Amino acid sequence: MASGNLFRLLLRGWNIPLFVFTVGCTLVYLLNFENAHVLQRNEGCSLLSETHFVLYSKRVVTPAGIGPYAVEVEGERIISMTKRSEAPKSAGGKPRVLDYGNAVIMPGLIDAHVHINEPGRTEWEGFLTGTMAAAAGGTTTIVDMPLNNHPTTTTKEHLEEKKEAAKGKLYVDTGFWGGLVPENAHNASVLEDLFEAGALGLKAFLCPSGIDDFPAVTAKQIKASLPVLAKYRRPVLVHQEVTDPSAVPSDLMPGEPQSNARDYMRYLSSRPLSWEREGVRQLMEVAKDTKPGGVAEGAHVHVVHLTDAEDSLDHVKAAKAEGSSVTVETCPHYLSFAAEDVPEGATQYKCAPPLRDARHRELLWKALLNGDIDMITTDHSPSTLALKLLEEGDFLKAWGGISGIQFSLPATWSHGHARGMTIEQLSKRWSTVPAKMVNLPRKGSLEFGKDADIVVWDPEASFFINSTYPIYFKNKVAPYIGHRYSGKVITTFVRGRQVFEEGRHAKKPCGAMINPVLIIERSGNELLN
Ligand SMILES: *[C@@H]1O[C@H](CO)[C@@H](O)[C@H](O)[C@H]1NC(C)=O
Ligand SMILES: *[C@@H]1O[C@H](CO)[C@@H](O)[C@H](O)[C@H]1NC(C)=O
Ligand SMILES: [Zn+2]
Repeated sequence: MASGNLFRLLLRGWNIPLFVFTVGCTLVYLLNFENAHVLQRNEGCSLLSETHFVLYSKRVVTPAGIGPYAVEVEGERIISMTKRSEAPKSAGGKPRVLDYGNAVIMPGLIDAHVHINEPGRTEWEGFLTGTMAAAAGGTTTIVDMPLNNHPTTTTKEHLEEKKEAAKGKLYVDTGFWGGLVPENAHNASVLEDLFEAGALGLKAFLCPSGIDDFPAVTAKQIKASLPVLAKYRRPVLVHQEVTDPSAVPSDLMPGEPQSNARDYMRYLSSRPLSWEREGVRQLMEVAKDTKPGGVAEGAHVHVVHLTDAEDSLDHVKAAKAEGSSVTVETCPHYLSFAAEDVPEGATQYKCAPPLRDARHRELLWKALLNGDIDMITTDHSPSTLALKLLEEGDFLKAWGGISGIQFSLPATWSHGHARGMTIEQLSKRWSTVPAKMVNLPRKGSLEFGKDADIVVWDPEASFFINSTYPIYFKNKVAPYIGHRYSGKVITTFVRGRQVFEEGRHAKKPCGAMINPVLIIERSGNELLN
């Protein structure tokens, strides 16, 4: 049997949980999607009634570049990609052709850093509202952080609780990170149980997380977890600031009385760049174990929300050059805003590490455009409006976290286009690289056999996010409100289901929980470049 036919056969054999096959010498794994069975359009999972259709536009983002393509979708997969200068005509209406003209058809965004907070703090955000906002923003996969939900996702039991809470509430495909804390860092069996239960990797903090039941670890504790991560070929994602009170004037330490706590600059100087630099330095030291032949070869170290494209990024670049398996992300808010522009008391701009000045923002853009920063995530980290202390405007006491999951595309594109970013670069940093870092080989690009995870958007359409703009995440406070953007999402497909189209969602959330059954052979950073 020709391998193409075998592949088609495998694609159709969806209920069989595991197939492994070899392509060249690369071992590829297939994901086992809980909840995902045969398409259930008639049950309201899709706004389209068809399960076989063709999307067409003049600007389709493919691994071979942008061009006019017909993207044929059957069931949950892309079954053909055909370059052609005009939309195909459907014979007798089958398959239906959706012609999007000059709009961009692109792989859905993969947001590997999202705080959903359910169970335990569902009033901050929940799976339903968080994934509705993701779908409206063109994001087709999220990976949920192990905090600020309660209990935190540091054991198999807690992960099972979270999966139970997520059931029937997912508009997009959703994976879960486990939590690395002092209590489990030296306990391989707890970590292995987490991976067996579906955790895609671990998240750790080198400084207090802001949540008491998710304490910081030391670099040494991260090092101790690497051999277990290596065995399962998973990444550890690390919040890179290391608290160093000696680097901060004493009256600026959290908890100390403030003369002008409504001044963003006071908050900024309470979390100096030196914290981030020291954290990344320590992390790149332990990441040496991930080198080929190292004791943790196969493990991967990922630096989250980088704000410092100077010394911190130099540590990451040196580690890559030495062969350590490392990557780094930044977020749209660091690429959008500058400390000196934050209005007095505007705590919707508070996050950690803090937004830095315009010079640092431009350095981040430079590093993103030249590929030194590998990928982008939102770090969507909401809380209730009350905890943002919007009236009081106290930057030191307010919750530190920015909501942005619905605005990834317009924020990245508006600021990126102005600096020469291409649509292909945007797609690589939001889809292709995250798919590799998270280990999602069926996602991240538009190709034959891949999941039909697709966003259609208009880069030229501009809009203003005002107080009546339809925001789908739960607590409608975000620094993006009050700004004009270009880059409007027209429609979003998750595994062939049309889940969002301008202002409306499918009746029923039918996203799947991602559960890896066998992990791809990692070859360090080669995969990512
Ligand atoms: C690991 O944690 C489990 C569950 O809490 C406990 O039973 C076991 O003794 C621990 N193992 C080690 C080596 O600490
Ligand atoms: C928000 O913007 C929309 C579209 O531009 C406009 O129709 C609406 O009146 C605005 N709402 C407010 C409160 O400014
Ligand atoms: Zn976060």
